[in-house]
Amino acid sequence: MGVQGEGEADFSEHLIRYGGDVYPEIVEKAQGCYVWDAAGKKILDFTSGQMCATVGHNHPNIVAAIKKSCDTALHLFSGMIPRSVVQLADALARIVPKPLKKSLFVNTGSESNEAAIKMAKLYTGGFEVMGLGGSWHGVTGTAGSVSFASDRKGYGPGMPGTFILPEPNAYRCPIKHCRDKCDRTCMKVGFELYDAQSTGARAAVVAEPIISAGGIIVPPDGYFDALQQETQKRGMLLIFDEAQTAFGRLGHWFAASYLNVTPDIMTVSKTLGGGIPLAGVITTDAIEDTCHRRGFSFYTSHVSDPLPSAVGLAVLQTIEQEHLLTRSREMGEYLAAGLKDLQQRHEEIGDIRGMGLLRGIELVKDRETREPHHELGALTTERCLQLGLSMNIRRRPERGSVWRIAPPLTVKREDIDLAMTIFDQALTEMKSTIAGRPRSGTIAPDLETGSRSRASIP
Ligand SMILES: Cc1ncc(COP(=O)(O)O)c(C=O)c1O
Repeated sequence: MGVQGEGEADFSEHLIRYGGDVYPEIVEKAQGCYVWDAAGKKILDFTSGQMCATVGHNHPNIVAAIKKSCDTALHLFSGMIPRSVVQLADALARIVPKPLKKSLFVNTGSESNEAAIKMAKLYTGGFEVMGLGGSWHGVTGTAGSVSFASDRKGYGPGMPGTFILPEPNAYRCPIKHCRDKCDRTCMKVGFELYDAQSTGARAAVVAEPIISAGGIIVPPDGYFDALQQETQKRGMLLIFDEAQTAFGRLGHWFAASYLNVTPDIMTVSKTLGGGIPLAGVITTDAIEDTCHRRGFSFYTSHVSDPLPSAVGLAVLQTIEQEHLLTRSREMGEYLAAGLKDLQQRHEEIGDIRGMGLLRGIELVKDRETREPHHELGALTTERCLQLGLSMNIRRRPERGSVWRIAPPLTVKREDIDLAMTIFDQALTEMKSTIAGRPRSGTIAPDLETGSRSRASIP
């Protein structure tokens, strides 16, 4: 017996299942906007891996940066700073909205949010943290506690002092107040309820600029200015979690740039490493300095590691060299036009939202009542995969079924055309499958029991 793994097709034997069903075949290769399974099937990847591979899978610049790291350093003592870390921090300081300036590099989005919230607690002296409904900030202690799209059942209490702020979802107002135009009553009500519960030890509000796992919810104009005012009034810090929105996904370096709202702390992750585990926390001189003086510590085995930072630098350079911000806006418009055309032909497409190359398509049984069409959502997602297109669906019982479409920024028009053909076919076929079925009166059974398309994945 040796340690040589066999890589057998039945991978369920030795692997812990970690959420949702997995693709039934081993996946062998990823390149650009496509992945290939062991049977040689080519799949168009409209999830950019786990929303990370924005410059395309295995981009040659990323491969070159990894190879170069093999000749220099892969890993160091956490108290040693490699050149790539200094260069990446410098590159970020040039593009982040001022006065954000100083960075810390870790590996995952969860960690970056843990670090940001720890800084906010140390800086304010408080501990209470608010998160938006439908948000996803990670799976670790505090980040998981302020994630309201994730599975919370079965693990006991979250972190004391975490509060939900109802999300500004104009299509499905969480407080049943608005329809199609959010007037921010959700925010007013949310803060009133929070104030009534607060111990006074307030620390931060953490928010995704577009609530992705919660169903691609785009807050209305002026929402974040108002949110910033509310946080400032209470002496709280505003943290933007730009895991999915930074580095071109929306056609800008950061959501903060186009929103013209600069948070006190910004976290970046998924899209910075382009597929390699890299995340960052970026804040101001003043916050960094105060936290340092108060003993801030976030000393992990892979903080400031050389290889991921070298890759992060390659990702930023690739975005600049290949004009991917502009490309994201252009391809995003092309994608949106295709989706609108699809909506003309399919009554079940109730709403289309998003920006750049992050789009959400909400499926309903009836455009007027907006009853969620969970069954169609599940079936079309599966059918798309069979037809060679991988994309997610976000499904929450009360909040609807929303396809999440997020191809790499390098996507071509012909890839989008192919996706539209597959969407159309999947919708047409699955609608007639459902129409031919006896009415059960229940939602798709796997909404709760778990499937590839179940809700609780980020
Ligand atoms: C907005 C957002 N923040 C944080 C995270 C957590 O990142 P990670 O999975 O790298 O810990 C995710 C996704 O997982 C996310 O979508």
